Amino acid sequence: MIQTEGITKSFGSLQVLKGIDLTIGEGEIVAIVGPSGAGKTTLLQIIGTLDAPDSGKLYINGTETVRLSEEKLAAFRNRNIGFVFQFHQLLPEFTALENVMIPALIAREKPAAAEKRAKEILDFMNLADRMSHKPNELSGGEKQRVAVARALINNPSVILADEPSGSLDTKNKEELHKLFFDLRDQMHQTFVIVTHDEQLATDTDRVIHIKDGTVQLTIDN
Ligand SMILES: Nc1ncnc2c1ncn2[C@@H]1O[C@H](COP(=O)(O)OP(=O)(O)O)[C@@H](O)[C@H]1O
Ligand SMILES: [Mg+2]
Repeated sequence: MIQTEGITKSFGSLQVLKGIDLTIGEGEIVAIVGPSGAGKTTLLQIIGTLDAPDSGKLYINGTETVRLSEEKLAAFRNRNIGFVFQFHQLLPEFTALENVMIPALIAREKPAAAEKRAKEILDFMNLADRMSHKPNELSGGEKQRVAVARALINNPSVILADEPSGSLDTKNKEELHKLFFDLRDQMHQTFVIVTHDEQLATDTDRVIHIKDGTVQLTIDN
């Protein structure tokens, strides 16, 4: 479960977040929507503990993350949170399989176990025959599915996605969105997805509208 209380964030004189209160339940799929510049990415980075709020509280699975040291926070993030970005951000020198294994190796998983699990996830995503390819040998949709596999390798309870289908065509977009719902049904992760895609937003459990640094409205689907 994710809970934020009164989160604020400024960049210089620009106050981007003016007090965000959210509670997102375990296994929920939530869409965050709002105009460009509204602070959606900033909020996702803060929920993901990649950036710190100026004030306010953040709890992830009961842990108040701002109280953790840098080192503990990095370990917490690695185990609890998976990230999917608009542009896959795979490492170009490594194969799909290696890219997926990296977070597990960072978590000090044994290489053989990391490889086994990475293969299972890639297989689940119908990427078994693409595992030894490097990112530039994969299509856009395949790269994004590899990025989702990488986000899943450490079995995080929370997946954060920032416009994950923003660079995909309709078919790949639909496949990626279906994957999110399949994963939630089978593995019960919580998904927070920033999106401009109206169909995806409508398909989620709840849509949170962010504007002028506050939550303007939430709509239960
Ligand atoms: N690191 C930063 N330094 C300065 N300004 C930033 C930084 N990150 C974001 N901003 C500004 O904060 C505002 C919100 O950005 P962002 O969270 O990326 O919005 P969104 O994702 O909703 O489009 C924008 O005006 C942006 O220019
Ligand atoms: Mg953004």
